[in-house]
Amino acid sequence: MNKPIIDVLNGSARKPPPVWLMRQAGRYLPEYRVLREKAGSFLDLVFNPELAAEVTLQPIRRFGFDAAILFSDILVVPQALGQAVTFAVGEGPLLDPIKDRTDFERLTSHVDHTVLAPVYETIRRVKSTLPPTVALLGFCGAPWTVATYMVAGRGTPDQAPARLFAYRDAAAFDVLMDVLVEASASYLVRQFQAGVDAVQVFDTWAGILPPEQFARWCIAPTRRIVTMVRLQVPGAKIIGFPRGAGSLLPRYVAETGVDAAGLDWMIDRTFAHEQVQCSVPVQGNVDPLALLAGGGALDRAVDAAMEAFAGGPFIFNLGHGILPETPIAHVEQMLKRIRGS
Ligand code: CP3
Repeated sequence: MNKPIIDVLNGSARKPPPVWLMRQAGRYLPEYRVLREKAGSFLDLVFNPELAAEVTLQPIRRFGFDAAILFSDILVVPQALGQAVTFAVGEGPLLDPIKDRTDFERLTSHVDHTVLAPVYETIRRVKSTLPPTVALLGFCGAPWTVATYMVAGRGTPDQAPARLFAYRDAAAFDVLMDVLVEASASYLVRQFQAGVDAVQVFDTWAGILPPEQFARWCIAPTRRIVTMVRLQVPGAKIIGFPRGAGSLLPRYVAETGVDAAGLDWMIDRTFAHEQVQCSVPVQGNVDPLALLAGGGALDRAVDAAMEAFAGGPFIFNLGHGILPETPIAHVEQMLKRIRGS
C-alpha cells in the first residue's frame, strides 16, 4: 500500500499534503509524560525498546499523522562514541566537553553499535505495528550540530565553543567531523536495515555558520553521509534540515544530494518555492509559536504554507520542533485545516 510521504519524496504532489511534526513525540503529550516518569531518565526511555516504541506510536494514535519518527535523540551517537551523555531534568543535555584534540582522541573512532542496538530494536517493533500507509522515519543529527554539543558539553545560545574550536584548530575539527560522518552514515544504514522508510538529517545549528564554513562543516559532511548511505542502501530517501540556511539552501540541496529539504519558519516562502521546490520536495514550515498561539494566527500560518507549497511535492510540518507548552487542541485545529475535515 502507498505511503503518502514516500510518494511525495518520489516527487508527487498529494492533496491534502501528508503531515508529521518534528518532535511530535514529547512533552506536550500527557501520555508521553506518564511514560517519561515511569522510565526514570530520558535516556532510559530512549534505550528501552518497549517504551520507546510506545512513545513513537503515541502521536500516530492520537492524531493520525502520516509518519512516525523514531523516538530517540541525536546525542545517542556521541554516547556510542564513548562520550557520556546525560539529560538533567529541565536543563537539556550534558556531556563532558571536548576542549582540545586530546579530549576527542579518547573517544573511539567507530560507533559501538551494541550501545545503539536498542534503537534498532525499537524500529523493528514500531515497524511491525504501524499502519501500512504510515511511514517510519529514522534520523540523526548532522555532524556539525552533533559536534556543537560534543564540544560545548551542553546547549548554548550561539554554539560559540564549537565555532571557536573550528577556527583555532580546523585540522583537529576535521578529524572530529570525519568520525561523525562515518558514525552517522553507519547509524543511518542500520536504521534502514531495521526498517525505516526514510531518514531526516537534523542540522539545527547550520544557520549560525558564515557561508564558507557552511560549505565546509554543513554541506560537505552531509554530502558524504548521503553518498555513504546510498552506497549501502540504494535509493535511500534522505530529508535534509539545515535550519537557518536561508539563501544557502539551494546550494545545500544541489551539493548534498538530499531527496527533500526541510524548511525552517524563517525562510521566505516565495524564494523556497522558486529556488528549492523547483528541484526537490519541500517540508515545513509553520512557526512553532503560531501553533502554540492557535486561533486566527495559526489558521493564517497554515494557509500561507499551503498556498506557497501545496501545488507541488510538499510534506506539511513545522519549521522546527513542537514546543512542550503547545495545547493539543491547536494540533487538532491545524490538522483539520490542512485536511479540510
Ligand atoms: O521528533 C521526534 O519526536 C523524535 C524524537 C527527537 C528528540 N530529539 C526527542 C527529545 C528528535 C528527532 C530529537 C532531535 C534533537 N535532539 C535535535 C535536533 C532537532 C531539534 O529539535 O533541534 C537536537 C538539537 C537534540 C538535542 C536535545 N535533546 C536537546 C537540546 C534537548 C533538550 C531540550 C529539549 O528540547 O527538550 C533534548 C531532549 C529531548 N529530545 C527531549 C525529547 C522528547 C526532551 C527530554 C525530556 O523528555 O525531558
